Amino acid sequence: MGTFPLELFGKKLRNPVMNASGTLGYGKEIERLWKISTLGAFVTKGLSVFPHKGNPQPRILDLGFGMLNSIGLQNFGIKRFLEEYTEFFIRRKTPVILNIFGFTEDEYVECGRLIGENPAVLALEANLSCPNVKQGGIIFGKDPKIVGRIVRGLKSVTKIPVLVKLSSEVTDIVEIAYAAYEAGADGLTLINTLPGMWKERDTLVRGGISGPFLKFLALKAIYDCKRSLPIPIVGAGGIMNVKDAILFLEAGCSAIQVGTATFLDPLAIPKIVKGLKAYFKRGQKW
Ligand SMILES: Cc1cc2nc3c(=O)[nH]c(=O)nc-3n(C[C@H](O)[C@H](O)[C@H](O)COP(=O)(O)O)c2cc1C
Repeated sequence: MGTFPLELFGKKLRNPVMNASGTLGYGKEIERLWKISTLGAFVTKGLSVFPHKGNPQPRILDLGFGMLNSIGLQNFGIKRFLEEYTEFFIRRKTPVILNIFGFTEDEYVECGRLIGENPAVLALEANLSCPNVKQGGIIFGKDPKIVGRIVRGLKSVTKIPVLVKLSSEVTDIVEIAYAAYEAGADGLTLINTLPGMWKERDTLVRGGISGPFLKFLALKAIYDCKRSLPIPIVGAGGIMNVKDAILFLEAGCSAIQVGTATFLDPLAIPKIVKGLKAYFKRGQKW
């Protein structure tokens, strides 16, 4: 179970709470409300080798029980993030997890190469839920062979630990997670959004669904992978409050990520950190 402080990949984190990728941008804006150093680690939005424009509006729909996002992985590229933000995170003593993606296998590996050795970066988090343009749009994370190749490629170009982030929209998530582990993945992030569609005014929007309902799927994926594999798991998916966070830690997560909750309550993360601290102080009693 995650602890205070927490040791992950040989580094001490002040607590096991992270934001989920894509939900706090590049990290500076939220400081109007709370300090980024509240987090155990900061997770970037998805970064790619080349800047990427993303999708047209509407990009975020409130589904009532969660949200559908169709941001389309908009970002200004890894190089710019490292140049403009490394100092910011070093000053705040907050390690960064770089969430990376590509539209080809080579683009993933190139992301790893571009990072090199960076003192602010704790790990890479390879988002394997994007469509592979060369293979007609198949999602990388659905094929254990592709997952294995990407992880081996990343491990050959960087010493930074690699977390593999998977969606549970597969027949057997343990098979995919095992392929990542065998190829040298240092940890797993479970789970990403699930693909869905909804209508906003006259526009049909395809995107990823996140929020409360995901936690039931995430917990099962985490529990199954934890039983089969000896690498740390970072839990994500529908963690809305401290009670959810505790459940994920009990299911075997080393750390947890909070995404959609921040859109409902911008103070959700500091509240969860505070609640977890109190819970550990009471000797893990609720
Ligand atoms: C607006 C938004 C943007 C996201 N962008 C990314 C991304 O760039 N890379 C990624 O791996 N996951 C991305 N995700 C998925 C989240 O990191 C997380 O896995 C998912 O939302 C489940 O957690 P939650 O229910 O707490 O939001 C995004 C989610 C949202 C809501």
